Amino acid sequence: MTSHLPVGIFDSGVGGLSILKKIHQLLPRESLLYIADSVNAPYGPKGDDFIISRSCEIADYFLEQPVKAIVVACNTATASAVRALRENYAVPIIGMEPAIKPAAELSRSELIGVLATEGTLGSDKFVDLKSRYDGEVEIINMPCPGLVEHIEQVVPDIDAINSLLQNYIQPLLVRGVDTLVLGCTHYSLITDQIREIAGAEINIVDTDDAVARRLASVLEENGLLSEAQGSIRFYSSGNIKSQQQLLSHCWGNKVEVENFN
Ligand code: DGL
Repeated sequence: MTSHLPVGIFDSGVGGLSILKKIHQLLPRESLLYIADSVNAPYGPKGDDFIISRSCEIADYFLEQPVKAIVVACNTATASAVRALRENYAVPIIGMEPAIKPAAELSRSELIGVLATEGTLGSDKFVDLKSRYDGEVEIINMPCPGLVEHIEQVVPDIDAINSLLQNYIQPLLVRGVDTLVLGCTHYSLITDQIREIAGAEINIVDTDDAVARRLASVLEENGLLSEAQGSIRFYSSGNIKSQQQLLSHCWGNKVEVENFN
């Protein structure tokens, strides 16, 4: 394994771009391959079997390139598939989980709301994570069906997103939640809208920086930090023309998107 190899990063769609951005900022010398599995988004309602098999297909592709590490930039895919990936592939695999720990430290009301997919909230991994905070803070699950589908649109329906956010966030605020965890990478892309609805007083936490830092320390521990010039390649399993527009919009610059099947 050599340090000049790229890092493979994937999500069900554009959500993982929030992680890609942080990784690129922290590690500008790394070459990064990003796969948006857009044709299969959302992963949230899909079962473990599908997500494990699709994650393995993506990992196979990465290993053919090859890559020196894989980042699962998706809470849902991590919950379903990170164990299988770690068992089957020899490269370091960095996963993610909702940021309960920093949220528990921030919360004064000791009431935290977790916005995430049904898949993440229903997973054994999340149940286990949550149980570690029993008696310390109350954690209220808020599945957000429909949100990812809207965020995946080239021209998103802002009113529809706001109305879904109202439905999901208001009941949490009424319960006295003072801290919201963004437990899905897609939601980081609409942090401003979430902030608008939650209000300035509410803490909003995500895992994006933590994942980038974790990748940096894993690469460093393994002597894999690159000293070359970094680059980014984008792939999508969706319609290339519309994905080109969507990824460019979410990334903030025009990007070339290649086909991934
Ligand atoms: N962005 C992903 C996550 O962090 C997946 C969302 C989905 O495809 O349902 O969970």
